[in-house]
Amino acid sequence: MKVLFFGDVYGKAGRRTVQQALPQLREEFNPDFVLANAENLADGKGLTEKTLSQLFNSGVDAVTGGNHLWDRTESLEYLHSQKRIVKPLNYSEEAPGNPYLVLSKGDLHLGIICLCGQLLMPPCDSPFAALDRFIKYSLSIDNEKQNNIPLPYPIILDFHAETTSEKRAMGWFADGKISAVLGTHTHIQTADEEILPLGTAYITDVGMTGSHNSVIGVKKEIIIEKFRTSVPNRFESSDEGLQVNAVFLVLDSETGFAEKITRIKRNID
Ligand SMILES: [Fe+2]
Ligand SMILES: [Fe+2]
Repeated sequence: MKVLFFGDVYGKAGRRTVQQALPQLREEFNPDFVLANAENLADGKGLTEKTLSQLFNSGVDAVTGGNHLWDRTESLEYLHSQKRIVKPLNYSEEAPGNPYLVLSKGDLHLGIICLCGQLLMPPCDSPFAALDRFIKYSLSIDNEKQNNIPLPYPIILDFHAETTSEKRAMGWFADGKISAVLGTHTHIQTADEEILPLGTAYITDVGMTGSHNSVIGVKKEIIIEKFRTSVPNRFESSDEGLQVNAVFLVLDSETGFAEKITRIKRNID
């Protein structure tokens, strides 16, 4: 099974980048499933039905969230109804969103979960305990409910966290239990992709898809001024220097183990 995953797609620039890049990436990698982190889809703050429709129309099959997922109060109902949005599993059960998704195409099934880190992040439950619970209890229960799909099938974790230590620890913790641990949230791609010894693909951060002539998606002048003066100011999304940050995975659809992880960093004209 082949999977393409875009790191945090940021605002209009990010949506345009996916739309422009995906036909070429599809030709090159022929993915069965295309996923994206979409917590910054609507001008950096959460997502809306309109912005997510654009991403789906570009060919993305499902999206994961993060700490910004609930930034748009007007979208909370939509987060309840749109099952192709996967919210962080270690937030309250009452937080709008679907905590687990299985995408199916023919005989291929792909499970998707998302967890947020605890270090330098808004409060949430332990992602390690949540993954443990998910594997021990929810997975078998959900699996019975979901079309009787026989386990194992590949499961991808978007680990949305700030620190390299927490992400690396999650990689080791999840090794051999799920197919891939893909870090998101910092918007800066790391060059440490690998297959861990027990068969889990890992990268500390996939990076950001959108304007890289910016400070993690925001116009750089605004952020520099804020650091220079400490005076809060209004963020505006940048639209210069479009870049794809993504990973391509090859997973064994029978065992769930990863065979290959390829890091993608590509400028768009
Ligand atoms: Fe983000
Ligand atoms: Fe985030």
